[in-house]
Order: sequence, then structure tokens, then C-alpha cells
Amino acid sequence: MVDFLTMPLYYLLVFAFLKAVTSAGAGLKWVRVNVPQYRVPGEVAQLQCDYDLGNDTLYSVKWYKEHEEFYRFVPKALPPANSYKVDGVHVDMTKSDNRKVVLHSVNWKSSGLFRCEVSAEAPSFASAQSEARMEVVSLPDEDPVISGVEEQYQIGDEINLNCTSGRSRPASILHWYINEQQIQKDEALIKYPIEHHAKGLVTSTLGLRFILSNRHFLGGSMRVKCVASIAPVLFSEDREAVVHSLPVMRDMREALLLVKSASSQVGISRLFYLFISIVFYLIL
Ligand SMILES: *[C@@H]1O[C@H](CO)[C@@H](O)[C@H](O)[C@H]1NC(C)=O
Ligand SMILES: *[C@@H]1O[C@H](CO)[C@@H](O)[C@H](O)[C@H]1NC(C)=O
Repeated sequence: MVDFLTMPLYYLLVFAFLKAVTSAGAGLKWVRVNVPQYRVPGEVAQLQCDYDLGNDTLYSVKWYKEHEEFYRFVPKALPPANSYKVDGVHVDMTKSDNRKVVLHSVNWKSSGLFRCEVSAEAPSFASAQSEARMEVVSLPDEDPVISGVEEQYQIGDEINLNCTSGRSRPASILHWYINEQQIQKDEALIKYPIEHHAKGLVTSTLGLRFILSNRHFLGGSMRVKCVASIAPVLFSEDREAVVHSLPVMRDMREALLLVKSASSQVGISRLFYLFISIVFYLIL
């Protein structure tokens, strides 16, 4: 407990501690970057570099993408700011300074690790750095497509379908559902390699294979659904923190295959005449 008697002593101790800490590192204390985690092609990206120089004087602020320098700010140079050509990085010099760099119109080549390095002048020559990743994300323009659909199925037939995502970057993650139940069994799922297209975009294909049985029909119909999202990849690093801030969740897309049993009354025959309709819709 801190009562009124020990309070002044307490403050004195804290003060002495802070004084010790600050005089030990009177110069450059820290550097911290603030880089947007996700951007969509064509967007502007502002990369922030915050630092506390203490009683040091700034010598330079340098920005690197991976290990290539693309921007340098040296207050005593003329001009103080310079940019260097790096793939996917187009600096807006009018909006960039010693605290931030603005990139106009990011594209898929702009993804990467961005590092800010701050150096102090003599006599300390101290330097410190901080880095963070930015991912340029292309959401698919189209819904996934279910292929391999036959006109009719009989109980006992093998159902063999493919679900192919729209073009995205990074790759879409696909999931199959039967009557709203996600298919987890490895033997029912066939994983195909992702296909590469122009501009770094890729498509994913996931196969679904199973033997049709009566238990698949609920109230005379079976709903086979394929859901494509790129969210799981994006969320894998920090699942909780990004869930709410990303537009990507809204861009989960799906394809639905509704298999109807037309003759549930014809009990003797185990033959089902199935009307198939494919409905695509987008959950917003
Ligand atoms: C910064 O502060 C430290 C400790 O107080 C001192 O030794 C150093 O000379 C100062 N440097 C400058 C550039 O003022
Ligand atoms: C599914 O896609 C793969 C890869 O493109 C292809 O080899 C296979 O024949 C397709 N299967 C069906 C049922 O369409």
C-alpha cells in the first residue's frame, strides 16, 4: 500500500529511476514503423516512421523494401529527400518527409517487408530500425465455379465435382459443404495445385468426391456448397486482431449446387430424378 507518508518517497524513487533511464540513453531511443497490413491494388499506402531522437540530431531516415533502399531523407542534404527505383514502389515525393513515405498506386509487386532506419549525427552516430510487412491483396472478381455436374444422379453413384475460385492474390482457400456441414474427410477432398495467371493472380481448385446415399437428402434435397475466401491466410498471423478491420470477410464468395429428389414418393424405386440448379450468390 502507498499511504500519504510513503507517497513522496515513492515519487522520489520513480523520479530517480526515470532520470537514470533517460540519462543512460539520452540519444536516439526508439524507432517504430506503422505500415498498412493490407492494401488493394491502385490504393495509396502511407508508411509511417516514428522515432524519438532524445537529445540527438537527425542525420538520416532511410526506407528499404526487403533490402533495397527506396527513400532517403537527410535534412542537411540538398535536396533533403531522394527516392530510388525499386520494383512496385512509387514514392509520392510531395507527400513524403522525415516521418512518412507515401506510395501511390500500389500493385502486387508492392507487397513485402518495409524497414525504416533512423541514424543520428555525431557524436552519437546511433542508429535504430523497425520493419513491418505490407500485403497487396486482390480479391476475386468472380464467384467460385462448380464443375463436373451431371444431369442425373442415382443413389450409389459417385459424385465428382470441382470447385474453382476466381483469380485472387494470395490464393483463395476453398471449403466444401454438404447441407451446411463442412467436409473435412481427406478421402472426400482432392487438392489440386494452384494455377498461376498474369499479374501474380492465382486460382485454386478443390475436388469433392463421394458416393451418393439417401442420408445426403434432407427433405428431398441436398445442398452442395463451395465457399472461397482469402481470409484464412490473412488471419493466420493475428486472427483476433484483424477480423473486424478487413473488408475481405465481406468478400467471401460461394457457389451453391442444389440437388433435388423429384420422386421421393416412388419408394420402391431407388432411382431419384434429380433436378439440378446452380445458384451463385454473394454474401454481403
Ligand atoms: C545528450 O545528453 C547526454 C546526457 O545528458 C550528454 O552526455 C550528451 O552530451 C548530450 N548530447 C547532446 C548532443 O547534447
Ligand atoms: C478437376 O480439375 C482437375 C484439374 O484441373 C482435372 O484434372 C479434373 O479432371 C477435374 N475433375 C472434374 C470432375 O471436373
